[in-house]
Amino acid sequence: MNPASEPILIVGGAGYIGSHINKGLSGQGYRTVVFDNFSCGHREFLKWGEFVEGDLADVGQIRGLFAQYRFAAVMHFSAFTYVGESVSDPAKYYANNVTNTLNLLNVMRENTVNKFIFSSSAATYGDPVETPITETHPLAPINPYGRTKLMVENILADYSSAYDVRYTALRYFNAAGADPETEVGEWHDPETHLIPLVLDAALGTRKNIQIYGTDYDTPDGTCVRDYIHVADLADAHIRALERLLRGEGSAVFNLGNGKGFSVREVIDIAGKVTGRNIPVIETDRRPGDPAVLIADAKKAESVLGWRPRYPGLDAIIESAWKWHRKLFGEKAED
Ligand code: UFG
Repeated sequence: MNPASEPILIVGGAGYIGSHINKGLSGQGYRTVVFDNFSCGHREFLKWGEFVEGDLADVGQIRGLFAQYRFAAVMHFSAFTYVGESVSDPAKYYANNVTNTLNLLNVMRENTVNKFIFSSSAATYGDPVETPITETHPLAPINPYGRTKLMVENILADYSSAYDVRYTALRYFNAAGADPETEVGEWHDPETHLIPLVLDAALGTRKNIQIYGTDYDTPDGTCVRDYIHVADLADAHIRALERLLRGEGSAVFNLGNGKGFSVREVIDIAGKVTGRNIPVIETDRRPGDPAVLIADAKKAESVLGWRPRYPGLDAIIESAWKWHRKLFGEKAED
């Protein structure tokens, strides 16, 4: 499809997922504009398209951005994502993930920009009552982070019914891996996610990886997750964008591989991929972790024609390992 001649706004395009989407869109000939305040993103990730520094908390800055460009569509990645922090500091999460998103949506309306792609999360489902999880599974988030994502989905549904706004909410399962060309990758501070922490242990930049809970009702007692390559997420976003640009209506999709891996399996596969010893410590459960989260992503396949290109966890971890060594300055030995 011929990319829109008007640019695509990528809010949070200097972050982990947004930067991969920026690369994907630019590679397909789209004009992109990143808007980011570097609260979590990195200047080093501004490699494609144009850039405006700014903050969604400042409506004047958003208005200035929309006065500068006429956008074909908006993609929004600038949420806070630490579940634990959302419990200890919910105000921070409601302010950024909900209020600031409303600021963006309202300035879009003022400018009659009416296509919106939203980064949602499997956290909107809470503790699953059925696995794999389809989009019609009950939405009952168990932490403020998940509630912020659900609130925005509800706002979008209401806006879409009442106003000339069409949206796509993409519910990611566990985003993982890095750009196969290692131009961008996962880089959080602090890091809390399993795969980069396991790779830190492989690299020796941390002593060990802690397994949070070995008494879950799962085959090996550790939590099971559905890891999805960030380049596959980028591909799904572009397909979702094209669908909106074709004039189709609002929709919600799960994005996952439909296959679960336990924490122990992740560590074993990382050991094989890296060829390193990964010391493990078993500790207590982390509060708020569901035992199993596995996506049913058939809707994305049938409606968007999306199929992950990196369905294997070994390929996902290999790309993460290549990036991780680059980020921490270790030369590849091979
Ligand atoms: N884990 C460990 N040790 C660690 C880190 C994680 O055992 O040092 C375990 C966790 O308990 C969990 C699994 O590894 O069972 C994956 O944990 P992550 O922190 O990597 O990912 P989560 O499943 O907690 O979080 C992901 C997204 C969140 C989103 C959440 C929705 O990263 O943004 O899914 O449930 F909110």
